[in-house]
Amino acid sequence: MLASATAMMESSASTSASKRIAVIPGDGIGKEVIPEAVKVLRAAAAAGGREVALKEFDWGADRYLRDGTTLPKDAVEMFHRDFDGILFGALGDPRVPTNVHAADILLGLRFKLDLYVNVRPCVLLDSRFTPLRERTEKDVNFVVLRENTEGLYVGMGGFFKKGTADEIATQEDVNTRKGVERIIRYAFEYARRRGRKRVCMSDKSNALAFGHDLWQRVFKLMRAEYPEIEASHMYIDNLVLQMVRDPAQFDVIVTSNLLGDIASDLGAGLAGGLGLAPSGNIHPGRVSLFEPVHGSAPTIAGKNIANPMGAVLAAGMMFDYFGWTAEAQAIESAVRSALREGKTPPDLGGSIGTRELGDWLAQAVTKAGVSRSA
Ligand code: NAD
Ligand code: IPM
Ligand code: MN
Repeated sequence: MLASATAMMESSASTSASKRIAVIPGDGIGKEVIPEAVKVLRAAAAAGGREVALKEFDWGADRYLRDGTTLPKDAVEMFHRDFDGILFGALGDPRVPTNVHAADILLGLRFKLDLYVNVRPCVLLDSRFTPLRERTEKDVNFVVLRENTEGLYVGMGGFFKKGTADEIATQEDVNTRKGVERIIRYAFEYARRRGRKRVCMSDKSNALAFGHDLWQRVFKLMRAEYPEIEASHMYIDNLVLQMVRDPAQFDVIVTSNLLGDIASDLGAGLAGGLGLAPSGNIHPGRVSLFEPVHGSAPTIAGKNIANPMGAVLAAGMMFDYFGWTAEAQAIESAVRSALREGKTPPDLGGSIGTRELGDWLAQAVTKAGVSRSA
């Protein structure tokens, strides 16, 4: 039996007018871009007559180095009980070379909140910002749906004879029937709901004969249930080539955890760069986490030069998840205006600062207001 299509509604747990949002800025530029995303989301909520209650958490490298805290024991229960959404910056700090705090907090939340879909839109908002020659907004408009709770990320494996010449290191690639079914189901439902016409599943089943064979079989069974959607398959190595050669052929891409991590950074590059890329870590109907695709970018941190647009658009994705479509549209429109009017930070060739761009975007949202017919 394939996973049921129920509970596929893209809405958050609480239906109340006021939404409760946890804010985790994290490390590096996460601490700079998240306050700007908060400015813009507050402006959009106010313009739309929506109420938001925000609570900040100081989890990250500083806190970990101070008192050893990563993800507190009661955090998962608290998020389920007290929050509708989580706005997250990034984790990663050269002072924590093991990256253990990021594994505990970010991967911990993805796994423990069972956020099984990582939605990573690769949508070019302004054709001047793609590195591809003669490509426009209509060519780069696809979404990578990355499986987010299993694969090579589960942390199974270990060392044998560590540090010796005979050392063995293993890393298990875990693919469960339930996990593969629900992400592929989500991809077809997503295409149907969003009016997208094509779903391409990507794997490496020509080399990985077990886990990715499961992906192949589930995909074949499930595509038959969605005759109106064009289903195709590409090996991941060809997929990344085709993304560069002719991105217009893609609409919805669904793939495993590690392959999706890589494909979505490439997709972000095509759509203007990491500074512009948002994502949602989603369990339909439950508290979900929204973050820019980028990391903590330690080399540019603290200089007021990081691009906050990815974080701002992630806040927009959260509003969209809440069903606040008009407010989400208002946020995206403000980003489009900034790109059009050259209000861009250094990664996009301009010189506006992180804070100044946050202010500009918030004002643009307030000035334009929220249009319910949007
Ligand atoms: P990164 O995304 O931090 O940076 C990659 C490149 O993009 C760098 O050149 C950086 O300067 C640039 N960049 C990223 N975001 C930008 C922005 N908003 N504005 C302008 N330029 C931007 O990836 P990395 O360098 O591989 O990793 C740095 C740290 O971040 C590592 O510790 C890594 O583990 C962590 N990381 C965390 C997350 C996350 O928390 N979700 C994601 C990716 C990487
Ligand atoms: C991302 C990041 C994370 C991942 C790292 C920081 C563990 O690269 O969110 O894309 O690999 O998922
Ligand atoms: Mn990544």
